[in-house]
Amino acid sequence: MKKIVIFGTGDIAQIAKYYFEIDSPYQVVAFTVDKDYIQEVQFEGLPIYPFEEIERHFPPNEYEMFIALSYANMNKLRALKFQQAKEKGYRLVSYVSSKCTYLSQFNCGENCFIFEDNTIQPFVKIGDNVTIWSGNHIGHHSRIAAHNFISSHVVISGHCVLESYCFLGVNSTIGHNVTIAEGTLVGAAAVITKDTEPYSVWVPPRSVLLDKKSTDLKL
Ligand SMILES: CC(C)(COP(=O)(O)OP(=O)(O)OC[C@H]1O[C@@H](n2cnc3c(N)ncnc32)[C@H](O)[C@@H]1OP(=O)(O)O)[C@@H](O)C(=O)NCCC(=O)NCCS
Repeated sequence: MKKIVIFGTGDIAQIAKYYFEIDSPYQVVAFTVDKDYIQEVQFEGLPIYPFEEIERHFPPNEYEMFIALSYANMNKLRALKFQQAKEKGYRLVSYVSSKCTYLSQFNCGENCFIFEDNTIQPFVKIGDNVTIWSGNHIGHHSRIAAHNFISSHVVISGHCVLESYCFLGVNSTIGHNVTIAEGTLVGAAAVITKDTEPYSVWVPPRSVLLDKKSTDLKL
């Protein structure tokens, strides 16, 4: 089994270790975070090493790495650590769930994490450092650029482009042939049918609170 070090000690790192263990050819051997963020000696039963000196303990010619961070700062923190790990000489590994329907002819880039129940249609291209949580549809001929986060039950229709540093909230929908510009934040359940401007924010109307109790209604 190929041995990897995971950057991070939060929920995403815990989840990544779990998936790598049950459904990948990779064995997680340690965690790493920036020295100032080390609070314990171990996480999930494995040692934690300072990122500043990680290559001394786990040389990049023997070990690979996975950056397990979320969408903080519109994915820019994950992008920074991705870049720093590359500069240290690491190859970043990707995970594609065996329960993902991956029909594209093109492999995804490095440091991607693609969960179960995703449908990745033919001719889709996925760049580096893209998280695709569970249950999304990525339509044919769409291009997902580097450093994106697609949450869950998102529909990206055919021939779309998702430029870098975007966040697509749960149950959001992107219509056919739409370009989502860099840094766009699409809120939960928003529907986008036209190209967006960089760093724009889209939200649907809020749900209405009725002046009733659930017990007043007949289901
Ligand atoms: C878009 C989103 C990020 C806004 O976050 P939020 O916690 O609702 O933010 P707030 O309630 O603090 O609102 C921020 C601002 O946006 C406005 N806003 C948020 N949702 C709005 C809506 N539906 N309609 C109108 N205005 C809205 C608020 O009025 C507020 O404006 P103000 O600062 O001028 O008062 C959030 O609604 C969302 O969709 N999050 C994604 C959830 C998700 O998919 N998570 C998956 C994680 S894996």
